[in-house]
Amino acid sequence: MALAWVWTTSFITRFQKKESAFAVRMKCGKSQSSSCCVRRETTSCLSQSLHKASSAKLDWSNLGFSFMPTNCYVYSTYRNGHWSELETCSETSIKIPIAATVLHYGQAAFEGLKAFACKDGSIRIFRPEKNAERLQLSATRVMMPPVPKEMFLDAVVRAVRENCEYVPPYGSGGSLYIRPFLFGSGARVGLGPSDEYTFIVFVVPVGDYYKGGLAPVTAIVTDDYDRAAPLGVGNVKVGGNYAADLLPYMQSKEKGYPVNLYLDPVERKYIEEFGTSNFIAIGNNKQSFITPNSKSILKSITNQSLMQLAQEELGLQIEYRKVAIDEVSSFDEVAACGTAVVITPVGRIVYHDKVISIGKNPDQVGPTLKQLYELVTNIQFGNVVDKRHWMYLVN
Ligand SMILES: Cc1ncc(COP(=O)(O)O)c(C=O)c1O
Repeated sequence: MALAWVWTTSFITRFQKKESAFAVRMKCGKSQSSSCCVRRETTSCLSQSLHKASSAKLDWSNLGFSFMPTNCYVYSTYRNGHWSELETCSETSIKIPIAATVLHYGQAAFEGLKAFACKDGSIRIFRPEKNAERLQLSATRVMMPPVPKEMFLDAVVRAVRENCEYVPPYGSGGSLYIRPFLFGSGARVGLGPSDEYTFIVFVVPVGDYYKGGLAPVTAIVTDDYDRAAPLGVGNVKVGGNYAADLLPYMQSKEKGYPVNLYLDPVERKYIEEFGTSNFIAIGNNKQSFITPNSKSILKSITNQSLMQLAQEELGLQIEYRKVAIDEVSSFDEVAACGTAVVITPVGRIVYHDKVISIGKNPDQVGPTLKQLYELVTNIQFGNVVDKRHWMYLVN
């Protein structure tokens, strides 16, 4: 009975979402004036059939994580307090004023999420509502108008539909990476928020990072730079955070460490997060899932999902708390987690002149993290029943 109710409610919600997506598609068709697109597509706004899914002539087994042109991107502009209807554009560059606030004052935020070709032939997006909410949080923090959730969902679904040829086929291990972003596109010279904004969603096919299996890396603690100030913007996904991480990240890479770990900027004692991913650990004799709680960490959707699976599927205790760098040597397993690769196992951490080894075998992924990786990816590719309704249907 309870199950039937949950299913019915979720069906009604999905139906309402589909109806609103359809309404948006029916309304558009006429091109609106926008500074972001030189050549506008006049393609029908009715949904493109997905029978062409995964038909692009690409070497699916050798895709990396880099930009490539696809059919089009989806966009909307905000002027005079209103968002324009969603439209598509097949250009890969945009035209904005030289005084746009994004260029000078960094008024910009972005998201990253993925669509998957699933076992049953459907295409599904992993938890897009969460990205919609996070983009709203980021937008508000840097005084941009939040993109309405329904519009965000319509835009990502439409970007996937219009580019369905580029969704890597089921079994290839790849996925379609979706990059929604929002920026101040109005001209302003004095400091102040823009009066015009552009929201764009583009997509790129990306490969299976772990073709050869999950392999642990060595991370390095960045102790000569901070990622975020205590009450700064570390908890939101704004462009400037990544500009600030570029130098430390590249320096770490040059030294041979693919990921860099930041400590708290006040005491330099507690773990914050990696440059582009959250810190997670398995500890307490493999009974706990441990992850830092700090106001200046970006709330990773992957981390929230792993945390829930760790608790509900593996019966682990969740320790969401301050995590001291000195505790790390006692952990059984450590990883970086995020949308791009789900989990990057970390076998060793370089801290000052010490190398901290994690667990009994730092050269192999630990069993609990491996289990969690499989739990998430099996949901994403539709190999198991999606009982939490995390996957958002595109077709
Ligand atoms: C700073 C930072 N932390 C964590 C993450 C992981 O977040 P998510 O799992 O939502 O991709 C990302 C990637 O978006 C990030 O840039």
